[in-house]
Amino acid sequence: MAYSDKVLDHYDNPRNVGSMSAGDDDVGTGMVGAPACGDVMKLQIKVNAEGIIEDAKFKTYGCGSAIASSSLVTEWVKGKSLAEALEIKNTAIAEELALPPVKIHCSILAEDAIKAAVADYRAKQGFVEETESGAC
Ligand code: FES
Ligand code: FES
Repeated sequence: MAYSDKVLDHYDNPRNVGSMSAGDDDVGTGMVGAPACGDVMKLQIKVNAEGIIEDAKFKTYGCGSAIASSSLVTEWVKGKSLAEALEIKNTAIAEELALPPVKIHCSILAEDAIKAAVADYRAKQGFVEETESGAC
């Protein structure tokens, strides 16, 4: 199976790799795993006083598509509101990276990770919501 150029680009030059201090009130951390392959993705957002995501970081232990998906998502969420970030769909990630069907779950991981990061941030602000978990 051939990886698309965009996957290879993000894989070779991943954007925003790293960690933020998970204990900070302005940081939301999402940690998700894919049951099928055992890959793990950690995605963090830093939210400013206006509710805008001003920075994002990720660490992914997984395949090239998972790394590319998380790298892409950290780029997409910057400058977005939390509500806008929640609208990012795995299908858009898969389309942008031209992921083949067998790699779709890697993009689901990225969508789940951003949702989990937003939920964690909101929980810290005392925002109660119903959370959904897991991919497929
Ligand atoms: Fe990987 Fe479903 S097959 S999360
Ligand atoms: Fe599991 Fe890509 S093969 S995240």
